[in-house]
Amino acid sequence: MTTDTHLDLTDQEREANLDLEQLKQLVGLVEYDENKDVFPVTGWDAIVFVVGNATQTAHYYQSAWGMDLVAYSGPENGNRDHKAFVLKSGSIRFVVKGAVSPDSPLVAHHTAHGDGVVDIALEVPDVDRCIVQAKKAGATVLEEPHDLTDEHGTVRVAAIATYGETRHTLVQRHVGGHVYAGPYLPGYQPATSTFVKRDGAPKRLFQALDHIVGNVELGKMDEWVGFYNKVMGFVNMAEFIGDDIATDYSALMSKVVANGNHRVKFPLNEPAIAKRKSQIDEYLEFYRGPGAQHLALATNDILTTVDALRAEGVEFLDTPDSYYDDPELRARIGEVRVPIEELKRRKILVDRDEDGYLLQIFTKPLGDRPTVFFEVIERHGSLGFGKGNFKALFESIEREQEKRGNL
Ligand SMILES: [Fe+2]
Repeated sequence: MTTDTHLDLTDQEREANLDLEQLKQLVGLVEYDENKDVFPVTGWDAIVFVVGNATQTAHYYQSAWGMDLVAYSGPENGNRDHKAFVLKSGSIRFVVKGAVSPDSPLVAHHTAHGDGVVDIALEVPDVDRCIVQAKKAGATVLEEPHDLTDEHGTVRVAAIATYGETRHTLVQRHVGGHVYAGPYLPGYQPATSTFVKRDGAPKRLFQALDHIVGNVELGKMDEWVGFYNKVMGFVNMAEFIGDDIATDYSALMSKVVANGNHRVKFPLNEPAIAKRKSQIDEYLEFYRGPGAQHLALATNDILTTVDALRAEGVEFLDTPDSYYDDPELRARIGEVRVPIEELKRRKILVDRDEDGYLLQIFTKPLGDRPTVFFEVIERHGSLGFGKGNFKALFESIEREQEKRGNL
């Protein structure tokens, strides 16, 4: 901490052997002055999913998504309420939880929302400072700051409410000069993968988490942008309005907020008026309210990642061949690191802006309901979110929506 605008690796990034130059490219990390931040956020801590069957979901993330099991909590170590599996890939930590006891609060959550993200946990250097700021700015504090301790040390946590039934747990892993040394949080025991990777499988399929999109109700987007600005000191990144991302049927508005170092980026969507039901409306109906729509996983080799995922049966949204043959698009995207034919074969989308380009692809919904899904993204200078692809993408989503009878 010798300069005003310093940038350090997080513990999770260091453990994953990532370096700062890689992260600037992977997720568009920028330098900023943490001392002037009212609510300093270091980065993502963990994304917590509630699912109908955590045992099987944990297997899926290992077998299909190449993640490593690192920790576990369940009846075998005194947690009679639920099973929780902690999975890692690069600097990303996913926690999947499923009820064991029929009386678990996770049952009601899952009944209402299906599989989804219940907690976007963020690592912060000072939980108490964040909660003072959150209260001053009128946020709902769900958990006051408190210590969790076991034989590996102490973690200090608190939680605030965000859209719908989603929360941000704030996790401080450096307490009183010591860093917590356990595999996740106190109460979790170390675990190793039950799945043996196939010969020749890549070491990992993604290195970092780029952004998480939240879907909120009509008219609520600016309210939540204001929440992240006022409560958490997030800055506005880019703005998309109305016509930009409308097809004949589907339309939405989207604004993007980010924390100071841009590790944490939250695009927020609301439905816009269109001829027929927007994909955001479909999400809100089936998730029973606002929630996390998609998580963008950053890779430095999207071709290998997508090939490996397809080989394991992961399904992606289709993109019409016309997308790649369109002369306007070809002119707009210019030169990218691989021939367009390679992208066309894999249905990977390209977008370019003044800073560079990005390659991206979207999966079909992960669970039974048409709600949460993943994006795989490879950035080359562009700090955007694929605005130019929204129309092509929406038309593809709508073809799927029509098959489900929800258009
Ligand atoms: Fe995205």
